[in-house]
Amino acid sequence: SHGTDRGRCLVSQAAYFSQQPQDQVVVSGQSVTLPCVIVGYRGMVQWTKDGLALGGERDLPGWTRYSLMGDPLSGEHSLLIDSAELADDAVYECQATQAGLRSHRAKLTVLVPPTDPVVDGGPVIRVKAHTPYNLTCRASGAKPAAEITWYRDGEVMETAIYSKDGKRELAVSMLPVIPEDKDSGRTYTCRVLNPAAPAGRQTSVTINVQHPPSVTLSVQPQTVMEGAKVLFICSASANPEITGYRWSKGGVPISEANGDSLEVTVDHSYFTDPVSCEVSNSVGSTNVSTLVDVQFGPRLLSEPMPMKVDIGMDAAFTCTWTGNPPLTLAWTKQGSSVVLSNGNTLQLKAVTQEDAGTYTCKAIVPRIGVAERDVTLTVNGPPITTADATQHAVKHSKGKLECLVGSSPPPDKIVWTFGDITLSSGSSGRFSVQTVTSDHGVLSSLVLSETLAQDFQLRYNCTAWNRFGTGTALITLKEQGRILTVSPSSPTKTSPREGGQL
Ligand SMILES: *[C@@H]1O[C@H](CO)[C@@H](O)[C@H](O)[C@H]1NC(C)=O
Ligand SMILES: *[C@@H]1O[C@H](CO)[C@@H](O)[C@H](O)[C@H]1NC(C)=O
Ligand SMILES: *[C@@H]1O[C@H](CO)[C@@H](O)[C@H](O)[C@H]1NC(C)=O
Repeated sequence: SHGTDRGRCLVSQAAYFSQQPQDQVVVSGQSVTLPCVIVGYRGMVQWTKDGLALGGERDLPGWTRYSLMGDPLSGEHSLLIDSAELADDAVYECQATQAGLRSHRAKLTVLVPPTDPVVDGGPVIRVKAHTPYNLTCRASGAKPAAEITWYRDGEVMETAIYSKDGKRELAVSMLPVIPEDKDSGRTYTCRVLNPAAPAGRQTSVTINVQHPPSVTLSVQPQTVMEGAKVLFICSASANPEITGYRWSKGGVPISEANGDSLEVTVDHSYFTDPVSCEVSNSVGSTNVSTLVDVQFGPRLLSEPMPMKVDIGMDAAFTCTWTGNPPLTLAWTKQGSSVVLSNGNTLQLKAVTQEDAGTYTCKAIVPRIGVAERDVTLTVNGPPITTADATQHAVKHSKGKLECLVGSSPPPDKIVWTFGDITLSSGSSGRFSVQTVTSDHGVLSSLVLSETLAQDFQLRYNCTAWNRFGTGTALITLKEQGRILTVSPSSPTKTSPREGGQL
């Protein structure tokens, strides 16, 4: 079309542009002039904006900030745009209509500086410690969209994430931070700039790092005897300020305690049930627990149970103690100082009747105390029949032979056999049987109403039965002098009973 223009130029006697509008850039608010000077032309001159005619008048009614300037007689028709706006951003053309002349199509670019950036949540942003947070800075209205740079205490932060929405001329930059307590009070600055505002604009915020209370719980003194007083001190720091303390012991709230310390008289339970202090603020709460090193003597946790087992079987006793400092445990059998076990459990393999008896489980808390528990083992087995092999009586007096049957289960029967007599109860002639049951077993006595010479010739067989078998004791009767000052009776057996009956 340029060729055609030149053709018309020639036709209208060489009217031509001595100045034409060029592409220009203007910052909004500034004024700009698009030059147009046509030599050799006296007709109508008109500007178009994006192809739309602005009108033929020099003051361009309807376009308040637009006017034509210069002396038209000198061919000057420059377009003055006052206080440019984004709406002025367009392609302009100066036309000498009657000469069919058209200028360059000049692009006017209007640049808009960004407004002051806005940081979400500013000027003081409350953030939670150790929790990721995006500091978000928005720059709007700029053309072209603003570049955004974040600074922390003056130092450029390279980790920001930039995005822009071209249509709305909105730019956003997010700076991910994971605030630490020490970052509280730091200044973050968001600076925005574009070619319209090369010096940039900036907004600063400070962050206030909040955290749930940091708590330490201490006990004074560390180690105490049961019954002593201790002081728990719950020291906490927090931002924002602490709103309350709650105490509990072993999970049970101590409702009367609500300050930063707690004094109590401790017992052994403080050794196993932790005392906890929970401190709260508006951000959260922190719960810290502690045990107390309470020293206490042995306390029985589980009692050993008496046992009855058949001969040849295994038996086991368990007794559990607690104490502080740690206790030592010893199992012994009554009548012996031999330590059978130092564990909680005493194992007895394939028991014999000798194993029957009382066992003691003794706990020793060094320097603090000692305690013990007895437990009995009963062994089911055949009767254990005991008697002095030689027993005494005075001829022609009343006499007595004794036989003790111990063990478990008790005898079903006890039978005396001597000469051709067999007697288990009642009487036969001069002989009668008496049976007494005691803690030691069943005592069977063969009573002779009057002893005769032949009684001292016999062997007396005392045999007991139960479901496990039999037990026998054999006894001979010796004649005792009528006048006696010292009893020669064996010291090992049942003399109290004998004495009582004589
Ligand atoms: C921060 O912004 C990034 C990028 O958009 C996003 O992936 C992340 O989830 C945001 N983090 C938070 C805490 O909002
Ligand atoms: C603190 O923690 C302990 C143990 O986890 C718990 O028993 C107690 O109830 C808690 N205290 C509070 C006040 O929640
Ligand atoms: C003793 O008596 C029992 C039963 O009466 C008998 O079985 C046993 O053999 C006797 N023992 C002796 C040594 O005589």
